[in-house]
Amino acid sequence: MELDGKVALITGAASGIGLGVARACLAAGMRVAMTDVREDVLSAAAADLNTPGPVLPVLLDVTDRGAWLACVVRIEKELGNIELLCSNAGVNLVVAAHEATYEDWDFTLGVNLGGAVNAIRTVTPRMIAAGKGGHIVLTSSVNGLFTGPGAGVYATSKFALVGLAESLRSDLRPFGIGVSVLCPGPVQSELFESTPAVRPQRLTATASRPVVPPGTLRSDTAIFRTAPTGEEIGRRVLEGVRRNDLYILTHPEIRPVLEARAAALLTAVPDEPVDPARIAASQVLLDTTLYTSR
Ligand code: NAI
Repeated sequence: MELDGKVALITGAASGIGLGVARACLAAGMRVAMTDVREDVLSAAAADLNTPGPVLPVLLDVTDRGAWLACVVRIEKELGNIELLCSNAGVNLVVAAHEATYEDWDFTLGVNLGGAVNAIRTVTPRMIAAGKGGHIVLTSSVNGLFTGPGAGVYATSKFALVGLAESLRSDLRPFGIGVSVLCPGPVQSELFESTPAVRPQRLTATASRPVVPPGTLRSDTAIFRTAPTGEEIGRRVLEGVRRNDLYILTHPEIRPVLEARAAALLTAVPDEPVDPARIAASQVLLDTTLYTSR
């Protein structure tokens, strides 16, 4: 996809990965709508970009279905039709899934998965109607590909985004709209500060018990200090968009985990003769095109 002069909408763009994607889009000559729910942080980030390219900061809570349409109409009016949608806003609570409160389940799924659903339900029909194709990037995580202790709630939302992106890619191919899913490992960002900041006040009273001691996961701890920056990830995202990659992966060190998981899955496939009639009857289910073609 050629990006110069086109309009990008990025959610969760006030800091971290979203801000990095915004910078990369501007460097590519795009017109950029940056949206976020933290208004002050968003305005400061947009002002700090110091770019001649058109930037439109818009306050948007991705869970607010009523606000989505107004936001998109405003972007279309001020910048033009959206041709790159990056659904990136997210929160991360590191809590044991069986102990997380229903409120924290709803909060996490509402932002991470519900936000993406609202984004594609609002923007995609308009992209299709404009008839110029486009591209959608859903920010998942390595926790959308494998998981670990305390990641259950987060991984549930992020695995769902991988499934959503894969399926959407098939559905949107006829319209010339590409779909990628971004699955980064640790990235320098404000995630463990922004999550408590945006978590509704009423939930703090019923807080789920964190799996790791408070303060272990902060942007200044080793796992994030050694991590790539949002800007590096932003550039990687645009490479993936230009090539129409299905998966945008950023951390080579995850290879052994992916191999172990793929091997575990393949080992679990029953070692039994395959019934040709069942194969013939399940062609749609067994189609591999999604994974083998651009
Ligand atoms: P960040 O905190 O720097 O950015 C996330 C942004 O989402 C924040 O600006 C926050 O205000 C915004 N946000 C939260 N709830 C929102 C809502 N309801 N409506 C609109 N905006 C909302 O953190 P980061 O890391 O850049 O996060 C971006 C995405 O990357 C998230 O989806 C996160 O799950 C994902 N991710 C982050 C990784 C990391 O290590 N930083 C690794 C893998 C994935």
